[in-house]
Amino acid sequence: MAINLKGRNFLKLLDFSQREIYYLLDLSKQLKEAKYTGTERKQLEGKTVALIFQKDSTRTRCAFEVGAADLGMNSVYLGPSGSQFGKKESVEDSAKVLGRMFDGIQFRGFKQSDVENLAKYSGVPVWNGLTDEWHPTQMLADIMTIQEAKGIKKVQGIKLVYFGDCRFNMANSYMVVCAKLGMNFIGCAPKNLWPNDDLLKQCKEIAKLNGGSIEMTIDHTLAAYDADVIATDVWVSMGEDSKMWGSRIKELKNYQVNMEKIKQAKDDVIFLHCLPSFHDDKTEVAQEVIKNFGGNGELEVTDEVFNSKYSYVFEEAENRLHTIKAVMLATIRG
Ligand code: CP
Ligand code: NVA
Repeated sequence: MAINLKGRNFLKLLDFSQREIYYLLDLSKQLKEAKYTGTERKQLEGKTVALIFQKDSTRTRCAFEVGAADLGMNSVYLGPSGSQFGKKESVEDSAKVLGRMFDGIQFRGFKQSDVENLAKYSGVPVWNGLTDEWHPTQMLADIMTIQEAKGIKKVQGIKLVYFGDCRFNMANSYMVVCAKLGMNFIGCAPKNLWPNDDLLKQCKEIAKLNGGSIEMTIDHTLAAYDADVIATDVWVSMGEDSKMWGSRIKELKNYQVNMEKIKQAKDDVIFLHCLPSFHDDKTEVAQEVIKNFGGNGELEVTDEVFNSKYSYVFEEAENRLHTIKAVMLATIRG
């Protein structure tokens, strides 16, 4: 049966089948090729999308804005201040208003329930640009990057090892996409930073159906063995208290992605990170961390790995554009 995602929300990948995920990846590839060859068509001319951001963003915001423009759409940015959203006006009421003016709504914020309510009450496609729980558009970009780097279409059997905080949006999302696509996921973290049991169980069951596996380990000395992909994320996420840095550095310092871990993996291993990343001392936050806790600013990944031939982080960042365009196009046009 043909796939048609017109009118669908994109809130988390648990809501999508393997075929639908591959459909979005194929569409992303087509859109990337069209952009590169100058054959892109403004397939959504005359439409307008709302982009709600309660948290900061470079990649996601730019991908939605540039993507909307590429497709012929206008976009309206609603930042953490300057609108009534969630402050004087409930998410439900805001959704009913925005749904009458826009053809689609992107939401980046804290609570998954907010993006779910936007979807419930707006009547137009709603896209999750990151909540504390999920980061689904990032997953499409990561899988696209794996496909390109490895020269494959189907990623079943690819071993992805994730080091770091395994109970937040990135690790949750990796577990789901790996399970859906039959990949072999290993999450490596101290036990207090493992995902919740229900999600872990659910992902294990989905993975089994698709010929993949989902495992957790605390053993940072062996986890990277034979990996095709090594991934990590910041140790303190947006929306978490910056007081967490001290304890997280202690808990996760052995889980830093360094050359030792890369060398344990397959020769053609690639390194992924959604970005922004703490790999040097060139940011305000890194300076603050150095001042308070010492070190040289290399946290979840060393500068050596970040800038090595194994690192595909900027390809991954670019693919946010092509994949986000695919999500907008598929859900608005069908
Ligand atoms: N990876 C990602 O979502 O980046 P931004 O926070 O810059 O959007
Ligand atoms: N876990 C990170 C991802 C950033 C794209 C955060 O939520 O800040």
